[in-house]
Amino acid sequence: MRKVLILNGPNLNKLGEREPEVYGSTSLADIEAMCTAYGNENGFQVDFRQSNDEVDLINWLQEAASSGTSVIINPAAYTHTSVAIRDAASMLTAPLIEVHLSNPLSREEFRHTSLVSGVATGTIAGFGAQSYLLALAALSNL
Ligand code: DQA
Repeated sequence: MRKVLILNGPNLNKLGEREPEVYGSTSLADIEAMCTAYGNENGFQVDFRQSNDEVDLINWLQEAASSGTSVIINPAAYTHTSVAIRDAASMLTAPLIEVHLSNPLSREEFRHTSLVSGVATGTIAGFGAQSYLLALAALSNL
């Protein structure tokens, strides 16, 4: 089984109740269950984590860099602000896929810049909870 770390940034613990018109009605626990089931069927051992704290995300990326683990990350608002998360992501040696539930490019201008995209293998955005499964599918072919 190939290990994949799926990291989620701030406020994603509130999915389901948070702006459902933008992010849908699926909870983060539902997304974790979807990813775990898809992973089991496709040879991935999924390690799914969320934090509202930038420090946790940085430490988890460093852990993945040290162990050569592939990462799927939804950095949430830190996408647009965190040089520290980008720098940690730069250290990864295995593929990194950036995901978003919404399409940030079709939203407010401050969401149009991703500091993470430039160091990601690729980005999947705008497909709601499906974005995560599309990222796993992409990873299985990398
Ligand atoms: C998000 C998009 C970000 O702009 C926003 O800050 C989020 C969620 C998404 O998944 O669509 O928190 O990453």
